[in-house]
Amino acid sequence: MLTWRRSRRHAPDPVHVVPEAPPAVARTPADERAAADVEAAAEDYLRLFHAENPGAGDPRERLREVRQEIARTGTYTHTPSELVFGARVAWRNSGRCIGRLYWRSLRVRDRRYVTTAEGIAVECVNHLRDAAPARRIRPTITVFPQERPGVPGPRIWNEQLIRYAGYRTADGSVVGDPRYVAFTEMLRGLGWPGGPGSPFDVLPLAISVGEGPPLLSTLPGDAVLEVALSHPVHSWFEELGLRWHAVPVISNMCLEIGGVCYRAAPFNGWYMGTEIGARNLADTDRYDLTPLIARRLGLNTGTDRSLWRDYAMVELNAAVLHSFERAGVTMTDHHTESRHFLMHLEREEKAGRVCPADWSWIVPPMSASATPVFHRYYEDRRMTPNFVHHPDSLERGLGRSCGPGS
Ligand code: ARG
Repeated sequence: MLTWRRSRRHAPDPVHVVPEAPPAVARTPADERAAADVEAAAEDYLRLFHAENPGAGDPRERLREVRQEIARTGTYTHTPSELVFGARVAWRNSGRCIGRLYWRSLRVRDRRYVTTAEGIAVECVNHLRDAAPARRIRPTITVFPQERPGVPGPRIWNEQLIRYAGYRTADGSVVGDPRYVAFTEMLRGLGWPGGPGSPFDVLPLAISVGEGPPLLSTLPGDAVLEVALSHPVHSWFEELGLRWHAVPVISNMCLEIGGVCYRAAPFNGWYMGTEIGARNLADTDRYDLTPLIARRLGLNTGTDRSLWRDYAMVELNAAVLHSFERAGVTMTDHHTESRHFLMHLEREEKAGRVCPADWSWIVPPMSASATPVFHRYYEDRRMTPNFVHHPDSLERGLGRSCGPGS
């Protein structure tokens, strides 16, 4: 793995320090209010944890301990089991995710002791290797240090650990993923020399700890599992040279558990085919491939009513599912996953829980009404633990800001 900084001489390696003692500065009323909020959220979470994990001991004792730690430091430290359960429930509460049937199987890599940007880069690479042994993808999260008053905790700037660069060319068109044109330019401004210029150049990771420029770190090839796309029937499809990465690892969302923010906590499941075939490769502001595929299929693109977009999209999705299957890489399809989601919903109801769900995200982007999730409504409400987007992370992930943020 190659790592470099633009201004190594001027920017000393920032080191994340977990304070043992209270900060030496006086507490302001705002600090007191923040501590009270953390305490309230901690109580709610610990009650949930103990209610669902009856073997975990006396909650009152744990609550006393946590209150003391909050009074001393403004926050508190989860036990390993509180962290594991919190991460799993954050997934269970993710109203946009159709794949939650498997929430209990989430593997949690506790890396709260890794405090340098270099160490975090290494653990991101280890996450990628660990999440897909022999092409079987395992839902996995790696948790890096939490935020503490006055110590912001590490950040991974990329939206996902693996994403493709977007290069704007002289004629205004884009080579690669148009979603990441600004992010790619920002990385170049930070010293990344750029990739070979293919439509699928993997971006380096940008990781910061505290203020100052991020560490840029390229991913070693063996950590980036990719699938080249071919079609079950049309042999010309392979010549298009399309591919996609196998593991979607979201890396700029905050894992929020009981008032504690883990801003760097990359997590992955496996792909549902439509995410690639009906969105990443098809959206007009992404790879926009349906016109090309429609032409190769010999469809009449001169009229909407030939349904050329629809036919092209189906063939693209057939290619995605076929290629992952052939490569032995875990992937689900929208029909199977819709059924699984309704099973999950039923299980949650039986357990006496609300399963929050956002219809506009749960319903697949293709053949919506052919899946059972289309034909009903869901209750949606914000529940914690959860994965949340902080505005500054969203902006950085799209290259719209390059400050350290809040
Ligand atoms: N839709 C995103 C993408 O195409 C990934 C989101 C998470 N997906 C998942 N199957 N866990 O990269």
